[in-house]
Amino acid sequence: MSVKKKPFTEQIALVTGGGSGIGRALTEVLAIHGVQIVIASRRTEKLSETAAAINELVGWERVFTYGCDIRNLAEIESLVTYTIERWNTIDILINNSGLAVPETVDQITDAGWDKVIETNLRGVMQLTRAVVPHMLQNDFGDIVNISSQAGKHGYADVPSYCASKFGLLGFAEALRDQVRKASANIRIFNLCPGLVDVENTGSNAVPKPGFIHLSNIARTLVYALSLDRNVVLEDINIYAS
Ligand SMILES: NC(=O)c1ccc[n+]([C@@H]2O[C@H](COP(=O)([O-])OP(=O)(O)OC[C@H]3O[C@@H](n4cnc5c(N)ncnc54)[C@H](OP(=O)(O)O)[C@@H]3O)[C@@H](O)[C@H]2O)c1
Repeated sequence: MSVKKKPFTEQIALVTGGGSGIGRALTEVLAIHGVQIVIASRRTEKLSETAAAINELVGWERVFTYGCDIRNLAEIESLVTYTIERWNTIDILINNSGLAVPETVDQITDAGWDKVIETNLRGVMQLTRAVVPHMLQNDFGDIVNISSQAGKHGYADVPSYCASKFGLLGFAEALRDQVRKASANIRIFNLCPGLVDVENTGSNAVPKPGFIHLSNIARTLVYALSLDRNVVLEDINIYAS
């Protein structure tokens, strides 16, 4: 039996935190390839600015916005409902929203801890849980988690961030095992970047020392998504040499 394929031009993506930084770069590259994208996060003005700029760049309305705090389950569920009611599919889910609260273990506060874990891990798990049934029903889907090198190595100043990004990889591995056992046409990728320069983003900009240019993350996404449907590409470690 042949595995279902879909050209980018027929795909709908959901990118959390798509208004800024890495999420914006991933949204732009998907839009250039013809994907329609819903970008979702808290700052709706920032989302609108980004959508307008990318839509102008590609000459089509391909980027849409939805205000959503990933720490709020009702908002997560209404984001998925909106997208499904409008397009009837979510083909690509990019779990990109995230933040760090720098505090060593002896200084860590419960508030800081909750903020990081609820944003980077619990919210991602809840959103993924809401999206997967639609991917199963449509027999097609790609989930891309933006973890970090802090999901691979411990750094003293961001223990809760490390815990959340390591946790994301464990969650992804469990989900990958579920979809493999179900023979579902769903792939799960984890991008684990080191430092990415989200300030010097022009095409000729030189990244800060120790950082990589944002465009490398965008190119890696397209490469990963373009692989054959039966190819599993596990954690992608990408950092400055
Ligand atoms: N830059 C790096 O060097 C680097 C390296 C490795 C991994 N990463 C990861 O890459 C991802 C993107 O980071 P970035 O560097 O591009 O920084 P960024 O521009 O600050 O992006 C973070 C995004 O997360 C969204 N966000 C934060 N809290 C949220 C919430 N409660 N609900 C919904 N969205 C929320 C923000 O949007 P709103 O404020 O509008 O909500 C923002 O668009 C993060 O997961 C980060 O951990 C970054």
